[in-house]
Amino acid sequence: MEETITFPQVRTCPYRPPHGYTELTAQGPLHRVELYDGKLGWVVTRYAEARALLSDPRLSSNRTDPNFPLISSRGAAAREQPPAFIGMDPPEHGHYRRMTIPEFTVKRMNELRPKIEKITERAAEQLCTAGPSADLVVNYALPIPSLVICEVLGVPYSDHEFFEDASRRMMRSATAEGAGVARRELLEYLDSLVDAAIENPRPGLVSRLANGELARGELPRDYLTGIAVLLLVAGHETTANVITLGTLMLLEHPDQLAEFRANPDVVPGVVEELLRYTSVADTAGARVATADIDIAGQRIRAGEGVLIPNGPANFDPAMFPGPEEFDIHRDSRKHNTFGYGVHQCLGQNLARLELQIALPLLFERFPTLRLGTPATELRPRRADTIQGVDELIVTW
Ligand code: HEM
Repeated sequence: MEETITFPQVRTCPYRPPHGYTELTAQGPLHRVELYDGKLGWVVTRYAEARALLSDPRLSSNRTDPNFPLISSRGAAAREQPPAFIGMDPPEHGHYRRMTIPEFTVKRMNELRPKIEKITERAAEQLCTAGPSADLVVNYALPIPSLVICEVLGVPYSDHEFFEDASRRMMRSATAEGAGVARRELLEYLDSLVDAAIENPRPGLVSRLANGELARGELPRDYLTGIAVLLLVAGHETTANVITLGTLMLLEHPDQLAEFRANPDVVPGVVEELLRYTSVADTAGARVATADIDIAGQRIRAGEGVLIPNGPANFDPAMFPGPEEFDIHRDSRKHNTFGYGVHQCLGQNLARLELQIALPLLFERFPTLRLGTPATELRPRRADTIQGVDELIVTW
């Protein structure tokens, strides 16, 4: 009898995918896994098969399908969330995804750049005030994406403290109940934002959709709040954890950090290699098969769950030779960290922009930055969530 493997697995090093996945990648591209609820599914551990399956229309993202694979009870609670296109299939998926495009164009990114720079400067001041030894997560890494999303959605600055607190509780609560309470608070808040925007139109996605698609009857109201919550969830912890783990990795690699500091031209490449290496969203990419699929000598049967974590694909030596080596000169641009296919991350260019601003500015403002806690003492996070560390004490 073949041994069943559990998924997801816990990291031993916070900034690198679990070593158990490396062994699976070496053994083959597809494996049977047992999920927390005892259901069996497939996990895909090589790059080529991961990309082939992520672009295969026979795999569905429909989270309301009773066979959709769940990696924890928290995933089950997320089913109560209002509908959002990350959990839809074409053509419905494309219909709603397209409504958000104006917020993510190159023009919009260029407009956002000075605002992100300002937000980052303010976060650096917050960190400085909290120092000379302080937690990078709450003082720098979380406020940046949180305030950027406020900007994208059109959340007034006066509400940012509530917004940051509720989103942190929604994503970081130890219990499904705590996360559920925060989710409901945020939904109520976003709903009130829709009313406020109808009365007084303002910049941002919520107001644009409220006075456009919603007013024209093309977008149900709960779909609008669903889109807002999706952007908040998808763009917050993910980006924050790349800032945190990226800082940690650079501090752990002083030669490469010195080059990063000295040469702005290497910044985009460093960010791509950090995205590959840290693979923070490696539990994303869950699907359910809607038809039998033959791949790599295996048959995925209709109704079976398929997990396509990006960590193993990002460490597949066939795609990234010597994957264990953190190398800022490697061409990492084809990493799988933003997924692939129709659901490929909508906010990837925004995330890149935030990282390309936040990481250099941190090392410029704090030239003597170092870890306050040895890296070996940092505890990786639970396996079923976005990867990172809950706290990173830095000193300068
Ligand atoms: C480093 C930061 C980020 C990472 C690692 C990341 C990762 C991902 C991944 C892996 C997916 C695909 C999920 C799937 O296939 O089921 C995804 C989708 C998505 N991401 Fe990101 N993301 C990041 C930042 C952002 C930001 C800043 C935003 C927006 C503010 C965002 C918005 C979205 C949305 C809306 C989707 C759903 C796309 C769709 O279903 O069509 N993400 N992201």
